[in-house]
Amino acid sequence: MVLRVCIYIYILVKDVMFVASKQVLLKRMSNSNLRLITFVSCFFMSFASSSSPPANTTHKCSAQQTVSLLLFKRSLFSTNDLSQQRKCQDLLGSDYYPVMNNWNTSIDCCNWNGVTCDDSTGDVIRLDLGCGMLRGTVHSNTSLFHLSRLQGLDLGFNDIKLEPRAFTNMLQNYSNLEDLWLTNINIGLALPTYTNFSSSLKQLDLSSTGLHGKLPVNLFDFLNVEELILSMNNNLTGPLPKVNTSTSNPLVSLDLSSTSLSGKIPESIGYLNSLMYLDLSDCGLTGSLPKSLVNLRNLSFLYLSSNMLSGTLPSSLFTLPSLKYIRLRNNMFIGNIPVELFSLQSIKGLSLGNNQLSGQTDVLGHRPISQTFRQLTNLTYIDLSSNHFRGDWDLDILLSSLTNLEELHLSLSGLSVSSNNAKHYVNPKFKLLSLSSCKLNVFPESLQAMKNLKTLDLSNNDIHGHIPEWIGEMGGNSLLILDLSNNSISGTIPNVFNNYAKLEGFIVNENQLEGEVPSSLSNCQKLRIIDLGKNHLNDTFPGWLGSLPDLQALVLDSNSFHGRIATFFTIEFPFPSLRVLVLSHNEFEGELPLEYLQSFNAMKNVVKNNTKPEYLLVGRVYYSIVIAMKGVEQDFPYLLVEYTIIDLSNNNFESEIPDIIGNLNSLKVLNLSHNSLTGQIPRALGKLSEIESLDLSWNQLTGEIPQSLADLTFLSSLNLSQNLLMGRIPQGNQFSTFQGDSFGGNPKLCGPPLPSKCEVPRQPQVEGDGDDVDQDGGLPWKVVMLGYGCGTLVGLVLGYLMLSTGRPRWFNAIADATSHMILRCKPREDSE
Ligand SMILES: *[C@@H]1O[C@H](CO)[C@@H](O)[C@H](O)[C@H]1NC(C)=O
Ligand SMILES: *[C@@H]1O[C@H](CO)[C@@H](O)[C@H](O)[C@H]1NC(C)=O
Ligand SMILES: *[C@@H]1O[C@H](CO)[C@@H](O)[C@H](O)[C@H]1NC(C)=O
Ligand SMILES: *[C@@H]1O[C@H](CO)[C@@H](O)[C@H](O)[C@H]1NC(C)=O
Repeated sequence: MVLRVCIYIYILVKDVMFVASKQVLLKRMSNSNLRLITFVSCFFMSFASSSSPPANTTHKCSAQQTVSLLLFKRSLFSTNDLSQQRKCQDLLGSDYYPVMNNWNTSIDCCNWNGVTCDDSTGDVIRLDLGCGMLRGTVHSNTSLFHLSRLQGLDLGFNDIKLEPRAFTNMLQNYSNLEDLWLTNINIGLALPTYTNFSSSLKQLDLSSTGLHGKLPVNLFDFLNVEELILSMNNNLTGPLPKVNTSTSNPLVSLDLSSTSLSGKIPESIGYLNSLMYLDLSDCGLTGSLPKSLVNLRNLSFLYLSSNMLSGTLPSSLFTLPSLKYIRLRNNMFIGNIPVELFSLQSIKGLSLGNNQLSGQTDVLGHRPISQTFRQLTNLTYIDLSSNHFRGDWDLDILLSSLTNLEELHLSLSGLSVSSNNAKHYVNPKFKLLSLSSCKLNVFPESLQAMKNLKTLDLSNNDIHGHIPEWIGEMGGNSLLILDLSNNSISGTIPNVFNNYAKLEGFIVNENQLEGEVPSSLSNCQKLRIIDLGKNHLNDTFPGWLGSLPDLQALVLDSNSFHGRIATFFTIEFPFPSLRVLVLSHNEFEGELPLEYLQSFNAMKNVVKNNTKPEYLLVGRVYYSIVIAMKGVEQDFPYLLVEYTIIDLSNNNFESEIPDIIGNLNSLKVLNLSHNSLTGQIPRALGKLSEIESLDLSWNQLTGEIPQSLADLTFLSSLNLSQNLLMGRIPQGNQFSTFQGDSFGGNPKLCGPPLPSKCEVPRQPQVEGDGDDVDQDGGLPWKVVMLGYGCGTLVGLVLGYLMLSTGRPRWFNAIADATSHMILRCKPREDSE
């Protein structure tokens, strides 16, 4: 009984989580934590139900059990494993402590932390040691097996390794075991195909345990459980097993998400007719949705996002009476949304983003109201982004009809969104509005009522007029992202950003904004990205932004910023996190900002995370930017954090290039072109060992090109043209890859690749390039090592991949910060 309620709570909690987050990151993080919450509730319930008899009638813990538990305790250590700790702290907060800290003989073992005994017999029936700060190996002969009456065992979120035999013993030897929760501990073997699993087992959670190998083909035959969770096991492969028709399967909840399953979803899945929760998202599933899904009459949650599923959406799916959440994002579905959807009153969340769905969908007009989203008043979440829909949506009518709506993702859906700014009701809990490329032409006043707004993306629309003063009040103080880029917004930016303590992204580039940078932005201490580029702002350099500790990108290009770049002496270490500084096409003058260049610590000694690419993020959204690099404007839908950029081109800087630029040894792109820089090219630039694109063209640089530049093995684009450089162009190494147009417009430069011969015979150079020329006078051998920097390749390949698959600039405005899908190099990505 308790178990059933637990499953129900589990589903309920998952439901709540979904409502609360709807983004995979959170889901991912909480998916496993969820178990604990459920667990806590269940524990509480079992405790509540079992503690009803008066305390003095309860049996004491037997000596044999006490000894078994103490032996188990002795076989483990206490740990402070950081990765587990973070997850556990998120969940348990300050109540998080080593679970075995009161396991000693002065206390009856039934009263030890995590131990539950049967009141009538005194048998230990549950061990709940999840997040117990435990470390060690559980051996096959562990004393735990003496607790033969165990009904529930949770060892999750500990730094524990189960010996293979210990694992199989757990599955087979406990004749009363109902729940086994081993989340996030290390099992690391193939799922055994034994048929003699304990028949009492009802819940089995093996998520993130390093399971590998093929999922047993007879999985659903031998596992008679109600809840099966094998998610987050990257190396678990094979097709989804067929379901045997002859027996009725008790499975209520099945989670195989984030595994490497492939192939089609078998028709026989329809035999799992007790299923309420089905999560197969983020696998490699292909083919169309099986028609037999219509047999899953109890199904409430259908999560199939981030696969390669195709075909049309079967209308029968939308007749399932209990269906509440449908997530089919990131697949290849085509065709229309079946009209049956609009009769599905139970539906609370619909996520169809990033498919190839089409057809007319309306809020008003064109169709009877019974065939529009206005009908579905329980909806909290709509995601139709990145599809090919047609239709005009009146934002105000939609928001006032769907009074439970909290998230609306229509970016690049193909739909046009309008607002007549009449006063309408808006759910005060509304938190995400993503309307990029929706042909919106006004700033919707309904935003004013969204006091919990976290993400606002109105980019790539046709919004005219001014930014309203109330923008500083909108969203209370939890606003994370404000993106108004690429509109026709004019006037000044109101100086009203006093309340946004959590704002991470302020992105208003490509508008017609005038005036100064609002000084109240300095109150937004969490800002990571400020993009004001391509406007008509007229101000001096906002050095006061140097106090923002997390600012990673400051983009001010193509405005009328002017004057010298003054240092704020009140800020001791300005711009400590800055990685991207773009000031090009302005009227800055005077010296290059020496003090700032000195303090850009995030551009020095960056340690690349080789296992997991990290991108510039605001909230859970990738920051995208268009930058001139290697001579072409490039759109970066993602920007790797190690992609550090300084672009000061097209200004009136007129100093020498300071040596200290050489200390920014993680710099990838340096563009100082089109200024009035003088003096020699510092040899110290040879220390920019990561640099891929260096443009010093159109200045008044003199002297010889330092040989040190030839050693920059990642340099794939060099432009020194239109200067006053002289002498022989360094030969060999990286320089053999550059053509004449890297050096043109320097009348006194000579030697290959320029046609002009050097008059002075070649001197053996101190810096010793002779070594690099092959004895036969052929190509220098180091050419083999040259070429494009790997970083660029990764960046560009990703970039083009995204562009060619038609992903939006904001990558659907929802992305998985963990990016682990990218790592796995599968043609899918995660979201929600
Ligand atoms: C700006 O938005 C328009 C649509 O309104 C789009 O066509 C254009 O590509 C966008 N520009 C950029 C640079 O994204
Ligand atoms: C910038 O503002 C100053 C004074 O406020 C004005 O003199 C100047 O013309 C402006 N520059 C541009 C390009 O608008
Ligand atoms: C440097 O910036 C200028 C414009 O400011 C641009 O034209 C040029 O292509 C950039 N250089 C490189 C190598 O991208
Ligand atoms: C260098 O800049 C000049 C002038 O801006 C341009 O003509 C040339 O193509 C550029 N060379 C390279 C290699 O980008």
